[in-house]
Amino acid sequence: MIKIAVLVSGSGSNLQALIDANLSGQIVGVISNKPEAFALQRAKNANIATAVIEHKQFPNREAFDDVMHQQLLDWDVDLVILAGFMRILSAKFVHAWEGKMINIHPSLLPHYKGMHTHQRVLNTGDALHGCTVHYVTAELDAGQALAQAVLKVNTHDTADSLANRVHVLEHIIYPQVAEWICTGTIQHTENGVLFRGHPMTEAVQFCKF
Ligand code: GRF
Repeated sequence: MIKIAVLVSGSGSNLQALIDANLSGQIVGVISNKPEAFALQRAKNANIATAVIEHKQFPNREAFDDVMHQQLLDWDVDLVILAGFMRILSAKFVHAWEGKMINIHPSLLPHYKGMHTHQRVLNTGDALHGCTVHYVTAELDAGQALAQAVLKVNTHDTADSLANRVHVLEHIIYPQVAEWICTGTIQHTENGVLFRGHPMTEAVQFCKF
């Protein structure tokens, strides 16, 4: 059974969705860089081991990442799931976990990498918005996309309402992608990413209008 660690910084609603999905893999630990993150409580409620590694206590990014890396090795982790983890990871750490680490981003990548995606979608007047699950590479929000969920932006939407609507979609597609990895439906190989044994040329699309 695949062993999963989830990295969090905040509320952890995606962590909750992953817990509730009863994945074929086992969530063996949750790491937070913030001691006050509610996600830690969610992990404890589900009897999952937790580790608080406060980035502020380290002289630089690499030193912080080294301790996280060691914790993941101690838990014998096969898959790292970033779920609202608000730290940029060092190239060394990303390289060590390349092909074994996924993220969810609240936009239809490659559009709107980085922060404040909902407001930027409204500012541009886009008709569609959504979220993307992707492998993590050293370039921010740029790894291969595995799944996307799309919604229509309504005229009365605000950044907050979009955030809420996107969250609903995140809680559907993130556990689904995690399950696909746990069961080998998605495989990261030397020859690229495979979906059901075939090269994955584009992300699986989920629509909700
Ligand atoms: C989500 O919007 C996700 O897309 C982004 O961070 C947020 C985490 O929310 N990466 P939560 O902590 O899972 O509720």
